[in-house]
Amino acid sequence: MKILIINGPNLNLLGKREPEIYGNETLSDIEFWLSKKTEAANHEIIWFQSNHEGKIIDKIHDAMNSIDGIIINPGAFTHYAYAIRDAIAAVNIPTIEVHLSDIENREDFRKISVLKDVCSGQISGEGKIGYFEGFKILTNQE
Ligand code: DQA
Repeated sequence: MKILIINGPNLNLLGKREPEIYGNETLSDIEFWLSKKTEAANHEIIWFQSNHEGKIIDKIHDAMNSIDGIIINPGAFTHYAYAIRDAIAAVNIPTIEVHLSDIENREDFRKISVLKDVCSGQISGEGKIGYFEGFKILTNQE
């Protein structure tokens, strides 16, 4: 399977950004960690990060007919980006929403995900393990 992992705004700053919430590892550290965890499974993982809503939407559109599953950490777009929600609904690719932090137990505005009900699942508050859990769900390993 081909799995696309999309990370949204400010996730390029992981490692430096609010480490007490998001940890000390960079996005590249997480990519490397996940590649080691999943190498035996023989699936292809494609990583994409953007701070721009339109670029994320374009990437989701491009995934149509070429990608079998999407894992998305939409960053703050989670809470208000209806256009990303519509893109996920449009392409009809199984999509798992992942958050490093526990969005249910932070500020009130983070409790709402406008993407949640067009995704096949939401994993929140498990740190980088959330990406691995998403991978396992999409590749039917659990
Ligand atoms: C986040 C949670 C969002 O509320 C926040 O805006 C982020 C990261 C997470 O991974 O915990 O940028 O998606």
